[in-house]
Amino acid sequence: MTEKTPRLRPALDGVPTYKPGKPAAADGPVAYKLSSNENPYPPLPGVLEKAVDAAGTINRYPDMTCTALMAELADRFSVPVSHLATGTGSVGVAQQLVQATSGPGDEVIYAWRSFEAYPIITQVSGATPVQVPLTDDEVHDLDAMLAAITERTRLIFVCNPNNPTGTVVRRAELESFLDRVPADVLVVLDEAYIEFVRDADVPDGLDLYRDRPNVCVLRTFSKAYGLAGLRVGFAVAHEPVAAALRKTAVPFGVSHIAQEAAIASLRSEDALQERVRALVEERARVVEALAGQGWTVPETQANFVWLRLGERAADFAAACEKAGVVVRPFPGEGIRATIGETAANDLFLEVAAAFRKEL
Ligand SMILES: Cc1ncc(COP(=O)(O)O)c(C=O)c1O
Repeated sequence: MTEKTPRLRPALDGVPTYKPGKPAAADGPVAYKLSSNENPYPPLPGVLEKAVDAAGTINRYPDMTCTALMAELADRFSVPVSHLATGTGSVGVAQQLVQATSGPGDEVIYAWRSFEAYPIITQVSGATPVQVPLTDDEVHDLDAMLAAITERTRLIFVCNPNNPTGTVVRRAELESFLDRVPADVLVVLDEAYIEFVRDADVPDGLDLYRDRPNVCVLRTFSKAYGLAGLRVGFAVAHEPVAAALRKTAVPFGVSHIAQEAAIASLRSEDALQERVRALVEERARVVEALAGQGWTVPETQANFVWLRLGERAADFAAACEKAGVVVRPFPGEGIRATIGETAANDLFLEVAAAFRKEL
């Protein structure tokens, strides 16, 4: 007798499970996690108090429309509330965008390598991923992405800065790209790391979305704002895209604690800027030290660095782990190391120096 099992959608065959960055070792003498592009700082001033207060009402469902947070975001970014949609982290909103635009037979274009969730959410929707290789400089190849557009293209992700390389596309090239994408194809500017950008030629997606109905900007509270554990992100898009996001949202996905913490974080702008400044300074120190050791480091505008190690990627990551610092390996390609606390960065640099001598 053959055992019957529930029938699952064939679209899921071959879909990888999302791999989170490894946690820091529990037992070593030192243990730092530089594998998930998290913020090493604790919540911004005032945030924890608001979150604890909010925890007092967890017997109730949260405000499903995130009214207070939406009002705060609308004010902060000078956008209409009707153009805003929140979700369970920006990855949740990204998934809603794919669900809203793309199903079987449709194509979703993105650079590769880029954020690991793009292929997963595309395939889960039943759509076909179209991966366009980064240039030799590890940057989005916007011309090749344009050339990849077909009648079936529904959505294009542009990850700026790109995860895991930290590289950026600049205003002139991005504007020229957007001018050439058909008006019925949605372009999602994933700006998860925008707060860390210091290159004045990198555009703020919100300036680009305003007169372009097919552009959507994705932002998150997980990185610079340091709320990765609370799962809250948002999109800014014109109707009907924003309206579609409200339809594809998981009801009550953003908890009351997350909403209150996000509002308090937005109100702590000075402390946010100070922490971001310190991390950007650390980034410069790490990049300079790596270059001094002889590494080629792509120019990063995010809170991480990328080393293209090819076949040595897994060995490098293992050496880091042995030393008490966990980075993110992409076997056969490279490693991504988050800019963390100074001691963690120092440890990472020590491993990099020793490894460099072996190469
Ligand atoms: C480019 C990019 N977009 C989106 C996300 C998702 O972040 P979250 O869902 O925590 O907002 C990440 C997280 O690593 C990312 O690197």
